[in-house]
Amino acid sequence: MNSHRHTPRGFFIVVEGIDGTGKTTLARNISRRLESRGFPAVFTYEPTDGPWGKMLRRSFSAPGRLTPEEELDLFLKDRKDHVKKVVSPSLEQGKIVICDRYYFSTMAYQGARGLNPEEIRKTNEMFAPIPDLVLLLELDPEAAIQRIRENRGQLPDNFEQLEYLKRVTRVFKDLSDQSIARIDAELPPQELLNSAWQRVSDLLVGE
Ligand code: TMP
Repeated sequence: MNSHRHTPRGFFIVVEGIDGTGKTTLARNISRRLESRGFPAVFTYEPTDGPWGKMLRRSFSAPGRLTPEEELDLFLKDRKDHVKKVVSPSLEQGKIVICDRYYFSTMAYQGARGLNPEEIRKTNEMFAPIPDLVLLLELDPEAAIQRIRENRGQLPDNFEQLEYLKRVTRVFKDLSDQSIARIDAELPPQELLNSAWQRVSDLLVGE
């Protein structure tokens, strides 16, 4: 089923974690470091800026929330588009793709809304290339919410939000893929980058 894994191609690195872990900054920094060392890196993210991604982002700030099924459907559409237009072509060109969120987020976030994470994985792996490395930033949900409040000046999230992030964290904790490298998101930014970079260089040299 996963024969696409063995076709000649670049490397696929995904950065995952709950909101507030600093994952976007890390993904961008890895991409910059790769480029500065002469590697062809492509930084990208989900939800994308394409039509489905835009629809999703709008739905986050709209009153009420889409049903879990509706949300899943939009994330899948967005990902199919992203894989076809950005991820697969870049990998085929031998590039190193760094993606801020991927289907592990769907397993965790839509799983936390009651859908089955393993079913979500199966649906995704039918069309989505499997990453070579998943940098999973780990942070306590309470600390994550505290950071979101301080850094982004957003309204304090309610208890429901905390409970939701706790369920998301649980799914991330339960993942046992070989490709996952868990990193403590409480590390100071430079140490976080160095720790992640160690995993990236291991991958590139084939350890
Ligand atoms: P972001 O903060 O990384 O831009 O992501 C926006 C939100 O989208 C974040 O709260 C997590 C959520 N999300 C899902 O619920 N499922 C997914 O598959 C993805 C990619 C993101």
